[in-house]
Amino acid sequence: TPRVFSGIQPSGGLTLGNYLGALKRFSEMQNEGRDCIYCMVDLHAITVWQDPDKLRHNTRELTAGFIASGVDPEKSILFNQSAVPEHAQLAWIFNTVARMGWMQRMTQWKDKAGKNAEKASLGLFAYPALMAADILVYHATHVPVGEDQKQHIELTRDVAAKFNHDYGVDFFPMTEPVIEGAATRVMSLRDGSKKMSKSDPSDASRINLTDDADTIAKKIRKAKTDPDALPSEAKGLEDRPEARNLVNIYAAFTNQTVDQVLAEVGGKQFAEFKPMLADLAVAKLSPISTEMARLLDDTAEIDRILARGAEQAREITVPILKKTYEIVGLVGA
Ligand code: TYM
Repeated sequence: TPRVFSGIQPSGGLTLGNYLGALKRFSEMQNEGRDCIYCMVDLHAITVWQDPDKLRHNTRELTAGFIASGVDPEKSILFNQSAVPEHAQLAWIFNTVARMGWMQRMTQWKDKAGKNAEKASLGLFAYPALMAADILVYHATHVPVGEDQKQHIELTRDVAAKFNHDYGVDFFPMTEPVIEGAATRVMSLRDGSKKMSKSDPSDASRINLTDDADTIAKKIRKAKTDPDALPSEAKGLEDRPEARNLVNIYAAFTNQTVDQVLAEVGGKQFAEFKPMLADLAVAKLSPISTEMARLLDDTAEIDRILARGAEQAREITVPILKKTYEIVGLVGA
């Protein structure tokens, strides 16, 4: 049976990339009536050091971000990873299945650990095995993510295949990444070759979900572009990464294809298009940031939602972990 799982790290600050690449898609998949499970992956966040008070705050803020973006805890299961111990338990099994070489090939590992891999945490190296466990402890079949997570989903399939092969079972499913829509890779507003990211030192490079209307408008007005008018077809954007990024964002907000957007705005200069995009972004994002702030006023309620979500999650994870232990030959499972 199809089942959707995805997660976001509570490492502080949600960007427009997280919204268009993930959160917006999460609520759409929920509203298609699918069986959806969404997780604040706090155990992933601590693979680089997090201040404990900030981690607590960021986990609650991220939960508010999910709900404000349309994820309904009455329809989807919404919880934090550490509250469901089977994620970490299955991750250990997968640490014994996955190979060092697989981890070494992960581009996120190479980017994050950089030249100083000796000093990176062991958890950062093993990160993708925990991610595989997140997904497979639910036997999830579909994982909506941005383009940057594609390699990790491929590794999840490798882990499932090797486990099934090594133990002679057909137990874990082959998960499909769901990388759809016009904004699967939102780029920096300052550099069209870099991904929009919360860790970019320049705040002008990104739109934060908590930015106010003036800040959003200013960042879009100052976004790097080229001097040409917008083309009338998508192929006219091929060598124009900054222009393409802004059109992609517009298309994602309005649920259109890039060609549909260009049919409307082709021929316009950026001086005209940028204010249109800014108005659209403000109209779509300000209700979300207002709702996030409102939800964050009642952290006890957020904690209750997370606790209930964890209980619902464990109804699925406990039997799957038990069966995994039996397959592996662990006594007492
Ligand atoms: P994270 O927390 O970095 O990002 C959360 C989601 O946002 C997407 N995203 C983007 N999409 C488009 N453009 C961007 N600029 C952009 N930046 C971020 C990411 O692709 C992601 O979908 N490893 C994951 C978290 C994770 C997970 C999982 C995801 C842990 N376990 C299991 C799916 C299933 C991560 O670090 O995402």
